[in-house]
Amino acid sequence: MKNKINIAIDGPAAAGKSTISKRVAKKLGYIYIDTGAMYRAITLHVIRHGDAVLDHLEDVDIRFGASGTSVFLNGEDVSQDIRSQEVTQRVSEVSSQHQVRSYLVSMQRKIAEEKGVVMDGRDIGSTVLPEAELKVYMKASAEIRAKRRLEEEEARGVRIDIGTLTEQIIRRDALDMNREISPLVKAPDAVLLDSSHMSIDEVEDKIIKLAEGLIRS
Ligand code: DC
Repeated sequence: MKNKINIAIDGPAAAGKSTISKRVAKKLGYIYIDTGAMYRAITLHVIRHGDAVLDHLEDVDIRFGASGTSVFLNGEDVSQDIRSQEVTQRVSEVSSQHQVRSYLVSMQRKIAEEKGVVMDGRDIGSTVLPEAELKVYMKASAEIRAKRRLEEEEARGVRIDIGTLTEQIIRRDALDMNREISPLVKAPDAVLLDSSHMSIDEVEDKIIKLAEGLIRS
């Protein structure tokens, strides 16, 4: 039997982390965990019920569907709602709260206990899973990330211009990199992957090769 490892994939907004993580997880037969979706689900809960819910996070149940793509908030499928502009605008602020981070980080660590997890986010290699066998930090220029995000939004039928998207990405990066608790940072032992001029297949191949080198038969 092959041994299982944990893979941490971090990087700024719209760097392609979830697309790549999903593919890598599928190829290795691992579980994919989108931690950004967890912060988004709590943000949606706050938008709906107010800041007071932050004092009762134990009442917030977040689960993933089998493929890792669907997200359930207290039993409701919120996979679409967590991608709304309203949630995107508020998620960095909500995720900077210490009680939100400690609640989700302990949940994330528990999920990764058995190994065989590909987890993407901002602080996975630095804080959530500092012992992860493979850490990758993905980056790409803000212009390229905005362009990719525009294509995704258009595919979902959302009308938005590239200037607004670029501004939102730059603003979110600044908030995520400068917050007090576990800001977005490249772990010293993370492999830096600039995907600006790489195809999805190239990035996937590179990570799979790195992972296979660590998975002993
Ligand atoms: O990956 P995403 O764009 O869906 O993440 C949404 C926000 O959640 C991101 O702007 C910051 C926050 N986040 C975080 O603080 N820590 C993580 N591990 C993942 C996301």
